[in-house]
Amino acid sequence: MALHKVTASETERQRDFCRKVRELDTSYGLNSPRGSSYFIMTFGCQQNENDSERMSGLLQEMGYFEASGYEDADLIFLNTCSVRENADDRLFGHLGMMKNLKRDKPQLLVGICGCMMTQDVHVDKIKKSYPFVDMLFGPQDIYRLPEILWHRLTDSRRVYEIGSDDTLAEDIPIQRARKHRALVSIMFGCNNFCTYCIVPYTRGRERSREFDQVIRELKQLAIEGYKEVMLLGQNVNSYGQDLRKTRPDHPDFADLMEAAAQIPELRRIRFMTSHPKDISDKLIDVIGRYTNIEPHLHLPIQSGSNSILQKMNRHYTREQYLEIIRKAREARPGITFSTDLIVGFPGETEQDFEDTLDLMRQVRFSSAFTFIYSKRTGTPAAELDDQIDAAVIKERFKRLLDLQNEHSLASNLEIEGQLVEVLLEGRSDGDPEILSGRTADSRLVNLRVHDLSMIPERLLGDDGLLDGSRLEGSMAQVRITKAKTFSLEGELEQLET
Ligand code: SAH
Ligand code: SF4
Ligand code: F3S
Repeated sequence: MALHKVTASETERQRDFCRKVRELDTSYGLNSPRGSSYFIMTFGCQQNENDSERMSGLLQEMGYFEASGYEDADLIFLNTCSVRENADDRLFGHLGMMKNLKRDKPQLLVGICGCMMTQDVHVDKIKKSYPFVDMLFGPQDIYRLPEILWHRLTDSRRVYEIGSDDTLAEDIPIQRARKHRALVSIMFGCNNFCTYCIVPYTRGRERSREFDQVIRELKQLAIEGYKEVMLLGQNVNSYGQDLRKTRPDHPDFADLMEAAAQIPELRRIRFMTSHPKDISDKLIDVIGRYTNIEPHLHLPIQSGSNSILQKMNRHYTREQYLEIIRKAREARPGITFSTDLIVGFPGETEQDFEDTLDLMRQVRFSSAFTFIYSKRTGTPAAELDDQIDAAVIKERFKRLLDLQNEHSLASNLEIEGQLVEVLLEGRSDGDPEILSGRTADSRLVNLRVHDLSMIPERLLGDDGLLDGSRLEGSMAQVRITKAKTFSLEGELEQLET
């Protein structure tokens, strides 16, 4: 795939399409007095969420407003993920639902985008079995959404646009979904080709945004009042590597983190994902020196067995991984770690699995994303013959979860009774009297407010009660009263206003 830097004139051309759709749309007049509305369902990782925020920005520029649910929308997009088989299945479940919706509301338009749309097998299936779908496009084509939508609105034919280039587009309007955390993609694509993973095939080769562009976005976010930012890339540690081929002095990820940390309004700088093979001593040093960089490292290990790591093409050993953990603990006392783990990679023996459990006991992760290996057509691991029996995987998975749950609870118990800083995210789903938020190292806290007078009136709802959306993004001092496996309970002691 060739790299295609989207030029300013191309971006301007898309803005023209925005204007054209906006003019069209008033006469197109779907079913709301406010004009037409959209709803985006996002599957997958934070990069997909960030893509959806860009689509949202473009749609609003085209005069659409966001519907409160897909049932009310005139335009629905499904932003898909392909990382595991169950992700694929979810799309097809939702497509059945879209079919029914379209039967009741023929003017509804449905678009499918995201990682699944870069794979012929899915595109062909949709073209053949779901003829009602109006637009299909891949993650590389998001910047062209105005053009794609305009074509569909002015022509009854389905629009099918899967670009073959790795695009890098700046200056796309963005409508952020959250007030407490801003997602900032610093690079796109992946060059690592871990043998189980589909991402390098769906997202193309690594391409980094210019350092100045990223810093400009971060400064703008600080001005807008964001306290937390999350820098995103499939392997943030190789940020800038592509640019350094022609400009050897272009900043690397550690430089970018240091520059970000020097924006004092950004109180929490997070990043995802850091590949163990590329983590540098320079980055660990920066993490140690700036308190506004999160005291937490998400460092996917995948397996604790050296032979499996080699078959996965991960390029590190368990010993090297443990050495990174040691250095990070030394540089930043109290730092916590989370990870990703795959159970049942082809050829995984009982001893390989035991090695994973042993590594977990050595690191004691505060949390982990645990996955059952999923065979992805087109990846090298899918060709291996020694696929593991489902019953064996199930039994191993349970042992892995039990151990991780034990570690998660133990890690949460360590902060029981402490006063911690929590960035509020909103009201807890289950109980309107409880707020939710996260500690600096990303633990979920559900907290009670015993005395509403601790909250200034302007941050309460019109009814004088707790209003999650008004409190979202505020910092609070919270006393942790109870540790659970997946969350903490606490009481508000003070709200920073
Ligand atoms: N770039 C990130 C991960 C992106 S995918 C990284 O390298 O860490 C997120 C996680 O999904 C991976 O870390 C891996 O644990 C899991 N995953 C990816 N492909 C998978 C597959 N085929 N089966 C099961 N889990 C998978
Ligand atoms: Fe997939 Fe590996 Fe790239 Fe992560 S680093 S996206 S696991 S290929
Ligand atoms: Fe899924 Fe694509 Fe992200 S496959 S995990 S949405 S990069």
